[in-house]
Amino acid sequence: MASHFLKSLLLLSTYALTISAEYTGFVGTLDPKSIGIHHKKTLSHFRFYWHEVFSGENPTSVRIIPSLPKYNATTTFGSVGIFDTPLTVGPEVYSKVVGKAEGLFASTSQTQFDLLLIYNFALTQGKYNGSTITFTGRSPLSEKVRELPIVGGSGVFKFATGYVESRTLSFDPQTRNNTVQFDVYIYY
Ligand SMILES: *[C@@H]1O[C@H](CO)[C@@H](O)[C@H](O)[C@H]1NC(C)=O
Ligand SMILES: *[C@@H]1O[C@H](CO)[C@@H](O)[C@H](O)[C@H]1NC(C)=O
Ligand SMILES: *[C@@H]1O[C@H](CO)[C@@H](O)[C@H](O)[C@H]1NC(C)=O
Repeated sequence: MASHFLKSLLLLSTYALTISAEYTGFVGTLDPKSIGIHHKKTLSHFRFYWHEVFSGENPTSVRIIPSLPKYNATTTFGSVGIFDTPLTVGPEVYSKVVGKAEGLFASTSQTQFDLLLIYNFALTQGKYNGSTITFTGRSPLSEKVRELPIVGGSGVFKFATGYVESRTLSFDPQTRNNTVQFDVYIYY
C-alpha cells in the first residue's frame, strides 16, 4: 500500500517536472507563424554562375595560406583561401549580378586535387534580398559535377535543406580565372 503510494508520488513528481520544464521556457512547441514562417515547404531550383579571378586589380579570391612545399606542384595540400565572388544569372561576365558567394576553400587531399568548401550565398534580388544559403562539403575538382549539401539558410531560407551541384564551365590554367555553374536544389 505504502509502496503504491510512493510510486504514484514519483510518477506525479516526474509529471510535474515535465510540465515545469515547458513552463519555464526550456522547451515547447511553437506555431510556425509565431516566428514568421507562413508558407508550406517548397522545393526550388536556382541557377547561378560565378566568375572567379585570382589576379589583377580586383581579384575575387585570395590564397591566404600556401600549400605545404612538398605539394606545391601536385595537389596544393594545405593551402587555404577565401573568396567574395559575384553571382550572376547568366554565364557571361557582364550578366546581371544577383548576389555574391562569400566563403573559404582548403586543399584537403594529399593524392588528388580536392577542396573542402564553405559557401555563403548572399542574395540581393527582390524577396531574396538579404537572405542567405549556406552549403559546404567535399569538391573533387577532377569530377565534372560536384555535389555539396546545404546545411541551412537565413531569411526566407530558414530551415533549408537540399544540395548544390557545381560544374566548372571554363578554367584558364594561366590566370586560374574560372566560371562555375551552381544548381541549387533547396527545400525551405
Ligand atoms: C582574368 O584574370 C585577369 C587577371 O589576371 C583579369 O584581368 C581578367 O579580367 C580576367 N578575365 C576574365 C574574363 O574575368
Ligand atoms: C613552394 O612554395 C613556397 C612559397 O609558396 C616556396 O617557398 C617553396 O620553395 C615552394 N616549394 C617548392 C618545392 O617549389
Ligand atoms: C537590398 O537590401 C538592401 C538593404 O536593405 C538595400 O540597400 C538594397 O537596395 C536592396 N537591393 C535590391 C536590389 O533590392
